[in-house]
Amino acid sequence: MRQPVSKLLLFGATGDLAQRMLLPSLFGLHTDGLLPEGLTITGTARSDYDDKSYRTFASKALEEFLPKELKNKEKIKEFLDRLFYQALDITHPEGFPNLAKKIGDTSGGLAIFLSTAPSLFEPTIKGLDEAGLAHGLVRIGLEKPLGEDLASSREINDAVASVFPEDRTFRIDHYLGKETVQNILALRFGNSMFEPIWNAQGIDNVQITIAETVGLEDRAGYYDGTGALRDMVQNHILQLLAMIAMEPPARFDGTAIRDEKVKVFRSLRQITPAEVPHVTVTGQYGAGAIGTEIVKSYIDELGKPSTAETFVAIKAHVDNWRWQGVPFYLRTGKRMATRRSEIAIQFKPVPHSMFASRGGLLQPNTLIIRLQPEEYIQLLVMTKEPGLDREGVRLKEVPLNLSLDAEFAGTRRRIAYERLLLDLIEGDQTLFVRRDEVEAQWTWIDAIREGWTANDTKPKSYPSGSWGPSTAIALTERDGVTWQDD
Ligand code: BG6
Repeated sequence: MRQPVSKLLLFGATGDLAQRMLLPSLFGLHTDGLLPEGLTITGTARSDYDDKSYRTFASKALEEFLPKELKNKEKIKEFLDRLFYQALDITHPEGFPNLAKKIGDTSGGLAIFLSTAPSLFEPTIKGLDEAGLAHGLVRIGLEKPLGEDLASSREINDAVASVFPEDRTFRIDHYLGKETVQNILALRFGNSMFEPIWNAQGIDNVQITIAETVGLEDRAGYYDGTGALRDMVQNHILQLLAMIAMEPPARFDGTAIRDEKVKVFRSLRQITPAEVPHVTVTGQYGAGAIGTEIVKSYIDELGKPSTAETFVAIKAHVDNWRWQGVPFYLRTGKRMATRRSEIAIQFKPVPHSMFASRGGLLQPNTLIIRLQPEEYIQLLVMTKEPGLDREGVRLKEVPLNLSLDAEFAGTRRRIAYERLLLDLIEGDQTLFVRRDEVEAQWTWIDAIREGWTANDTKPKSYPSGSWGPSTAIALTERDGVTWQDD
């Protein structure tokens, strides 16, 4: 169903995501002439706005969250004219017909973006269906969290599937909308030099890090019941892992790419309760400093005791021919030393060093894919330091550096939601997560959580501004591997 729709309906239209991401993204698309001509955007939420006051609300959000260079009065006015609003309390199904009336004719297709609490999914889907807003020309985008384990995610997926078939269901993982994440595909499958060594013969280990400096923010209600494993690993980290580990897809389309990703998820080695203490580490941030800012502990921010993990590190394995014996070290945490999302591929050392007898030391090559805050790809290679080498050969690891920021300096870097919203509007599912992927992801995550329960695992405290508990360092050092931290 790859056809642009003529209407967009945003649930959660007054929420944080809408203000920070969705409205600015839609505006960015509007500015560049990428939204279909005449596309209308209807917002809905509980707040009691009408079209006019919602436009004022949206213009404030744009004022606050748009980068300065994008603020253009005329364009903002044009964009606001696309906006409409209908108040709706999802728990009162009698409100849905009014919503349908407000939206009007949907024969040109309707895309719905749902970012609401998981408990509201079912009533929303039902309400949409009963109000005639789920017919064959309607597609639905679902924002996480889509459940908290396999069972609850199935329940939500069943509820959605009872009304929207899979080819009209778009599950969002915003990491898939990030430019550098897609660049992994270009790097791997658009170049011939990496693929021959992209396997257990060529690669020693893979490290995936998503480190954040933020703490709880204003999300205590959601985050404390969720923790880092479910908030970040189940979705973003596993998606990155799949991009690195998957077999080459035959075509650049939703079916081919997602078929390959799901195979990776299904090949993840299940972690048993007996293994959990050895291959996973959990942490919770204590007080500390991020740069010069002194910050409180998680418990003090939350205001009550908690065993939620704000950090997790895992040694994972993909059990297939390509990856046999290659550890994938995964970690993510809040209140870490610095904000960084990065993948480091550590290649195997050369089989024999002819430099050893002349005192030259070699480091194995490393490929670093930095997703944020900067975007670059670096290949660390050995070179000889200039000199006459009377006291031995001196070798040095230096980066071959591809800075995407510099290389494409003239191109505006788009937020992930710009691409994802446009794909939703146009009906391209490639960068959305298919049901079988989500279920395979949860299956692996649930086993880890069961292991934590069986072992009564409690997160270890780590100072804010550090790289997590010291056991996370031991997790790799035991294998003679060091996290790529500088
Ligand atoms: C979200 C998580 O999915 O991703 C947040 O719920 C996290 O806890 C965020 O902060 C990170 O996204 P990004 O794009 O800033 O790396």
